[in-house]
Amino acid sequence: MKAIVYERYGPPDVLELKEVPKPVPKGNEVLIKIYVTTVTSGDWRVRSLNVPAGFRLISRLVFGISKPRQPILGTELAGEIESVGKDVSKFKLGDQVFAFSGAGMGCYAQYKCMPEDRAVALKPANLTYEEAAALSFGGTTALDFFRRGKLQRGEKVLINGASGGVGTAAVQLAKHFGGDVTGVCSTANVELVRSLGAEHVIDYTKEDFTKNGATYDVIVDTAGTAPFPRIKDSLKERGRLLQVLGSLPDMLQIPWASMTSTKKIIAGPATERAEDLRFLAKLAEAGEFKPVIDRRYPFEQIAEAHRYVDTGRKKGNVVITLEH
Ligand SMILES: NC(=O)c1ccc[n+]([C@@H]2O[C@H](COP(=O)([O-])OP(=O)(O)OC[C@H]3O[C@@H](n4cnc5c(N)ncnc54)[C@H](OP(=O)(O)O)[C@@H]3O)[C@@H](O)[C@H]2O)c1
Repeated sequence: MKAIVYERYGPPDVLELKEVPKPVPKGNEVLIKIYVTTVTSGDWRVRSLNVPAGFRLISRLVFGISKPRQPILGTELAGEIESVGKDVSKFKLGDQVFAFSGAGMGCYAQYKCMPEDRAVALKPANLTYEEAAALSFGGTTALDFFRRGKLQRGEKVLINGASGGVGTAAVQLAKHFGGDVTGVCSTANVELVRSLGAEHVIDYTKEDFTKNGATYDVIVDTAGTAPFPRIKDSLKERGRLLQVLGSLPDMLQIPWASMTSTKKIIAGPATERAEDLRFLAKLAEAGEFKPVIDRRYPFEQIAEAHRYVDTGRKKGNVVITLEH
């Protein structure tokens, strides 16, 4: 089968189209024929090892010290079940599915095996393969942070970086959970963020949300520009900063924030859960969650897609389509 392989960390040029053996499902696995995968900010970080300050060594330990341990990137896919292992009972041949391999990656390929009880779910009938492929990365991240931050109905939520992969999911999920949502983005994305349901949108090129006197129960930072010292006065008493993007020095402030105030910082990697995928699929089916698709690229032009994602300015998701 065809796969996009990288054998060293670096710029998008390290990605190469290669022939690799087609995987064979084990007893508890399904073999998925992939129609669409995505390029996420996670793929960019693991490819380049351009990670937030303090995380470089940890990243090498996780992903491979001198070269990538898993040579095939890609965390999201949508496709069709081509074959199943002998113990599989939840899926059958021809099922249309989407899946999230998370840190295990391996979705930049024509086929991928996944254990049936991991993050694989039936594709919502009302979503295209492109939309289904883009359900998981931003969706599971936002969901996990809102769960850890105990978001309550009626709370005021500000999402900094509301137009990105995580931000567009966070706006929609915060609305679903009954939040009063303010999105922060650049001028070009104001209408997009409003269309996702945000009651208020702040253009960060014109207004600094930390200086307008407004306060929030929850602030989500996906852009890395809202560390605790900058935003603490914009949090209400018992407010929570959900630091999706933060450096190691930012994380070292967690105990200090708890000791000196009623406010809390929640940070660290999001947890990958199979049931979150099924939750997102149900929400999508009910019309309450729809991944935003920015650009589409054919599989052979994936390096070009990475160049775009590397800018840190994508709107929602970038999808990659595969031919068979
Ligand atoms: N903790 C975790 O488990 C976890 C999970 C997923 C992702 N992440 C991290 O979270 C970050 C965001 O991920 P993503 O997939 O959403 O990235 P993305 O799709 O590239 O989006 C980044 C967004 O940041 C916005 N932005 C840039 N500068 C900004 C500023 N000064 N103020 C407000 N917004 C600004 C951009 O919007 P404009 O073009 O409008 O500026 C862009 O839409 C990444 O760094 C990723 O590594 C962490």
